[in-house]
Amino acid sequence: MKIAPSILSADFANLKDDIKKVEEGGADWIHVDAMDGHFVPNLTFGANIVKAIRPHTELPIDCHLMVENPENYVEGFAEAGADYISIQYESTKHVHRALQLIKKADVKAGIVINPATPVSLLEDILQLVDMVLVMTVNPGFGGQSFIPETVNKIKQLAKLKKEKGYEFLIEVDGGVNASTIKECAEAGAEVFVAGSYVFNADDPKERIQTLKNAVKK
Ligand code: DX5
Ligand code: ZN
Repeated sequence: MKIAPSILSADFANLKDDIKKVEEGGADWIHVDAMDGHFVPNLTFGANIVKAIRPHTELPIDCHLMVENPENYVEGFAEAGADYISIQYESTKHVHRALQLIKKADVKAGIVINPATPVSLLEDILQLVDMVLVMTVNPGFGGQSFIPETVNKIKQLAKLKKEKGYEFLIEVDGGVNASTIKECAEAGAEVFVAGSYVFNADDPKERIQTLKNAVKK
């Protein structure tokens, strides 16, 4: 299992230190949430933040693009040092083309589905992706409550993965804490994004360990 703290909830004035803190605390990946104010009603950052943090961490950088027409940004994120680029299924008419672009840039490609988007729509691209990210909240903000109905989609994906021998990782994002992480892990999730649970705490390291232990039990 992998824990991917989302820097959306980090202290932007001390980003380098916050990244160091979670890295030392046992984080496996760093999750970067790019938002454009169109696909989601919030603005964050672009590839420049990946470029800025790349020299300060050894961990894989997991980029979640909540932007319209993500194909326009793939090259920039790849050049900045992204290890994973995940695009929202709902964000482009050309999902297949966008995924091909990511692969061509030699970056792992992920597809993300919102709570209202069914797994069945992914049927024709599952063999192409390295990761499927199931949103467990509606994207746009940190600190929202986990939507329990999304767990069924994790189960469906885990079943398909097993039946068809696919190799994609199953990631979950939104409202992950010591209790919701258990349900997600039992359903088959393998990568867990956590923003506010990790960073809105005095000791992010302790929070990461609590998440890891919750899945072990
Ligand atoms: C939400 C983002 C998440 C966010 C999660 O749109 O994709 O990565 O940072 O935050 P929490 O863990 O606080 O729900
Ligand atoms: Zn995210």
